[in-house]
Amino acid sequence: MNPEFAGGVFSAAGAEFADWYARLWRPLGELTVAVTRPAPGDRVLDACCGSGASAVPAALAVGPSGHVDAVDVAEGLLAQGRAHAAGLTQLEFTRHDVLTWTAEPYDLVQCVYGVFFFPDMDAGARRLVSLVRPGGRFAVTTWRRSNMARIVPIAQAAAAAERPEADRPDGRAGGPERIDTPEKLTDWLTGLGLTGITVEPVEFVQPLHPEDAWKLYLGAAMRAFLTGLDEAAVARVKERFLAGLAEAGITTLDCGSLIAVGRVPA
Ligand SMILES: C[S@@+](CC[C@H](N)C(=O)[O-])C[C@H]1O[C@@H](n2cnc3c(N)ncnc32)[C@H](O)[C@@H]1O
Repeated sequence: MNPEFAGGVFSAAGAEFADWYARLWRPLGELTVAVTRPAPGDRVLDACCGSGASAVPAALAVGPSGHVDAVDVAEGLLAQGRAHAAGLTQLEFTRHDVLTWTAEPYDLVQCVYGVFFFPDMDAGARRLVSLVRPGGRFAVTTWRRSNMARIVPIAQAAAAAERPEADRPDGRAGGPERIDTPEKLTDWLTGLGLTGITVEPVEFVQPLHPEDAWKLYLGAAMRAFLTGLDEAAVARVKERFLAGLAEAGITTLDCGSLIAVGRVPA
């Protein structure tokens, strides 16, 4: 996704993104940091930080002697992040395209559900790896192959009936499916020059009420499918989307994820 477009989509998604914070983004952010385990005093970059789901736990881990830069293009989410971080002076939220972010080298760069938004996922990840100090670590959290991958095409088809260009509106080169198994993710990180790669799978299936499914549509990247549609058209997309989920028998959300960490050679 073009970073400016991503910033607009996710800022507009702010209210519904917040609705899913407590039951999706925050627990998986906590789990990411339970795996990446930054040490007290570490310098951390949380790339594509959203509203701070993994940046806040990272800031708690590094403590007042450490520093966490939380960088995202969506001002609407950063504002929520600043509220979540109240009192954590070691955590700084900045609106910036993380692909052009420069800073002193980091002990850890973590990117949670972010790399597949980069217009070129490989080049973007290489850029993030270049911000890690020699011997430091790079971590990626991404979706494991799951019913999330079935929900997105249903969302897309529901919008395409109103707006044919909803077919891949974001111009992404590849996506989560390139790294949705431990093997694929390990190979990809190896290709980025990392060593000692570990991948922790996380199981996380939860009930999905249709109204919550619609909030997920509005509160995540799927929202991009609705670009330019008026209220009446959005209402028809909702109806088609919920009918599509029912037809596919989808009543749960599988947020199964993979949390990978690799080391940059010293
Ligand atoms: C699915 S959200 C995940 C947010 C957060 N990491 C979390 O787990 O709650 C993806 C985020 O990536 C951000 N993003 C996408 N491309 C970006 C870029 N080039 N620079 C900074 N942020 C970007 C979006 O604005 C969005 O907030």
